Amino acid sequence: MVEALRERRGIRDQLGAAQTPAYVYDLAVVRDNHAHLRSALPDSAGLYYSLKANPHPALLRELRAGGALPEVCSPGELDAALEAGWAAEQVLYTGPGKRDVDLDRAVRLGVREFSVDSAVALDQLEAIAAAHDVAVRCLLRINDDQPAAGQGLAMTGVASQFGADVAWVLAEPARFAGREHVRVHGLHLYMGTNLATVDDLVAQFRHSVRTAARLTDVLTAHGAAIQVLDLGGGFGAPFARRGERIALDGLKTELERLFHEEIPRPAPEIVFEAGRYLVGTAGTLVTEVLDVKHSHGRAVVVLESGINHLGGMAGLRRVPPLVPDLVGEERGRAPMTAMITGPLCTPLDLWARSAEVPEVVPGDVLAVPNVGAYGLYASLLAFLGHPMPAEVVVDGDDPQRPPQVSRLELIRINREE
Ligand SMILES: Cc1ncc(COP(=O)(O)O)c(C=O)c1O
Repeated sequence: MVEALRERRGIRDQLGAAQTPAYVYDLAVVRDNHAHLRSALPDSAGLYYSLKANPHPALLRELRAGGALPEVCSPGELDAALEAGWAAEQVLYTGPGKRDVDLDRAVRLGVREFSVDSAVALDQLEAIAAAHDVAVRCLLRINDDQPAAGQGLAMTGVASQFGADVAWVLAEPARFAGREHVRVHGLHLYMGTNLATVDDLVAQFRHSVRTAARLTDVLTAHGAAIQVLDLGGGFGAPFARRGERIALDGLKTELERLFHEEIPRPAPEIVFEAGRYLVGTAGTLVTEVLDVKHSHGRAVVVLESGINHLGGMAGLRRVPPLVPDLVGEERGRAPMTAMITGPLCTPLDLWARSAEVPEVVPGDVLAVPNVGAYGLYASLLAFLGHPMPAEVVVDGDDPQRPPQVSRLELIRINREE
């Protein structure tokens, strides 16, 4: 995307009226990614967009218009989904720990579909649904026996907060088969993120389908009717590096064969969830060089963005360090190797110890490609109180749709509360 945009407009021109630092999101890329993923899934399958990847309202409206459904896991994401125009009945509310007050509000607003991660969570939902005297549906999230191969972050097959272990469900199926006001009508098997090949994706889905078949038999014997299988996703995307979205050639045929061969009839409805695949390649961070110096024999570039704007979780060493591609303005500059830091008063504010950048001087702008997912919204935004980056929404090269600029409001902490 960066190359394409640069050719068309130049890094600075993409910003419209906005100043750096700024995230630029291209709706044309979101539309295209969505259409591509849809066409790679069986026609009958449903597709949820996981708002955690990026809840920007313009992206949500685009995905809603394309037919995606919202998967949310917090009150803030629920509000964002409703504001984007989805009806509460379309929402799937997930997450391994939900406060009573948030569940209560979700039910009051009309949400009727939840993913639950334990017998305790089923009891909690039962109490809230009973208090409102409504019937709700839930997907029982499962922590499978083994992790899937090739995943970025394992969420299953390891000790985790996600899901009920297969062994618990097999040992005490009656505790997981439903409650008076909560109908367990499906299983949720999100195994992990960022799978980069069709083979890894299919292997993961095959594993999930087999686990689901084992559990369906047991739960059915205890009165549950499993009508939905949420197979998660894990559709990978390049992050902060140049690169194209992953081709999904052959996925649809493989999935159709898998479902035909391994899902017992009557077949449940199959749904998937995707975040990064849909929006990752649609976003670019544009940021200015504040200083360039040589320290202890090494070139050091200080940018106006650091782990407060991108890669906060990497800064905390929870995920591998960020080694971003920094795309410069084309001025025939030679490349240089430099340490890339942000402006924060901590040595942890480091994107890369040794990155290739075009030779830069203060005032230059650099672009980090493919950060539409887990960019701004997965960073340490409040740390040290620097201003938020602008968010600029473009729609390809459409002259009828000039860049729209907005800025996320820093979450206000109510000290009185
Ligand atoms: C339950 C669930 N669904 C969907 C996602 C979205 O993942 P991705 O953005 O990799 O598609 C996640 C990510 O953590 C998740 O935990």
